[in-house]
Amino acid sequence: MLFNEYQYTSYRFPEPQYLGAKHTLLAWLNRHMPRNISSALDAFGGSQSVAFFFKQLGFKTITNDFLNFNHQIGLGLIENKHETLTDDDLLILTTTDTVPDSDFQLIAETYTDIFFERDEALFLDAFRKNIDKLKNPYKKALAFTVMSRSLTRKITMGHFAHTQALRYANCPERLKRNRSLARPVKEIFLELVTKYNQAVFDNKQENLSYNMNILDLLPTLDRVDLAYFDPPYCDSHADYQSFYHLLETYVEYWKDKQFINSIRRYEPQKFSGFDKKKTVVESFEKLFEAARDIPHWLISYNNRSYPSVDEFRKLVAKYRDVELKYKTYENGRGGKGSVAGSREVLLICKKRLSVNIPFEARGEFAYA
Ligand SMILES: C[S@@+](CC[C@H](N)C(=O)[O-])C[C@H]1O[C@@H](n2cnc3c(N)ncnc32)[C@H](O)[C@@H]1O
Repeated sequence: MLFNEYQYTSYRFPEPQYLGAKHTLLAWLNRHMPRNISSALDAFGGSQSVAFFFKQLGFKTITNDFLNFNHQIGLGLIENKHETLTDDDLLILTTTDTVPDSDFQLIAETYTDIFFERDEALFLDAFRKNIDKLKNPYKKALAFTVMSRSLTRKITMGHFAHTQALRYANCPERLKRNRSLARPVKEIFLELVTKYNQAVFDNKQENLSYNMNILDLLPTLDRVDLAYFDPPYCDSHADYQSFYHLLETYVEYWKDKQFINSIRRYEPQKFSGFDKKKTVVESFEKLFEAARDIPHWLISYNNRSYPSVDEFRKLVAKYRDVELKYKTYENGRGGKGSVAGSREVLLICKKRLSVNIPFEARGEFAYA
C-alpha cells in the first residue's frame, strides 16, 4: 500500500448491530484486497464498517448508502475529520421542553405502545428537534449515528421488523440477559457517545459520504481504484427498509409518507433494485456496466442468495476475471443469511487482460 497501514489502527470502530455488517470479516477481506491503491469506494456502506477500515488504511474513502441513517454514519465517521459532540452539544440535545412541542411528535404519534412508552417517544421527538439546533452537519450526523445505535441497542433483536419490544422490555428473563431493553434511551446515548467521539479522525484525505442509489452515483465518480460491493443478499433478509424503517423515519422525519402494518413502516419505500428477485439481475448488470472503469472490484455474496452463487459468478464473469473465496459462519449472528452453516462468499474481480492471439492461431479472423 502507498500508506502506512498501521497509522490509524488505534481508532476503534464502535461495534454496530446491523444485518450483514462486515466488521467481523475485515481481516479476511483485507487478505484479498489489492495492494498499491489509494482510493476505495464502499458502494453499499450500511453500518460503514468497511468504509471505516478503508479510512484507517489511509485511502481516500468514498462511501454510499441509499438509506439516510447509514449516510449519517458516513458523514459522522468517514467524512468528518474533527467534529465531536461536546458537553455543550449534549446539553442542547438532551434538554426537553416542559410542555412537548405539538408540532414535533411524529415518533410519539407513530410508535407509542409499539416500540416505546409514550414518555420515551416524546423524549425522542424532543431530541430530534434539538438535533436541528446543532448547526454543524458533522455534529448533527454524529448525533443521528449515536442515536441510531442507541435505538438498536434498546429495541430487542436490534431491528424494528417485529412488535415484541415492549413485551421483552418488561420480561425479567430477557432483562437478565440484556439490561438495555429497559434502560432510558437517553442513558444509552450518553454512555455510547464517548466511543463515537473517539472514532473521529483525520486520515489526511478528502473522504466523502453519499446518500444515493448506487446506480445513479457510479457514473458521477471520477477516479476510484477499488470498489467494494456488499449488496443486500436478495431473498435472504434483504429488506433493509423493513428492518430499519424506524431509524430512517427518525432521520427523515417524514411529512409525506403513510405508516403501515403492525410495525408502522413508512410507505412508499425507496427504490433499491437489489432487494427483489424481479429487479436484482438487471440491477447487477447496470452496476457492473457503470463500474467498468474501476480496476478492482471485491464483491460480498452469500450461498443463500438469489441468484445462486454459480449464476452470480457467471454474471460477473461477463465483465471480469473472477476468483471465489468462501468462509463458513460457525455461529449464526442472525440475519442476512449469516446463520450457522451458511457461507459467505467473496468474489475477487480483476480486469481481463487483453490477450494477444498469435497470428497463426487467428484462422479466418486474421483476414476479416
Ligand atoms: C449488506 S448491507 C451492507 C453492510 C455493510 N457492508 C456493513 O458492513 O455494514 C447492504 C446495504 O445496501 C444498502 N442498499 C440497498 N440498495 C441500495 C442501492 N440501490 N444503492 C445504495 N445502497 C443500497 C442497504 O441500505 C444496506 O445498508
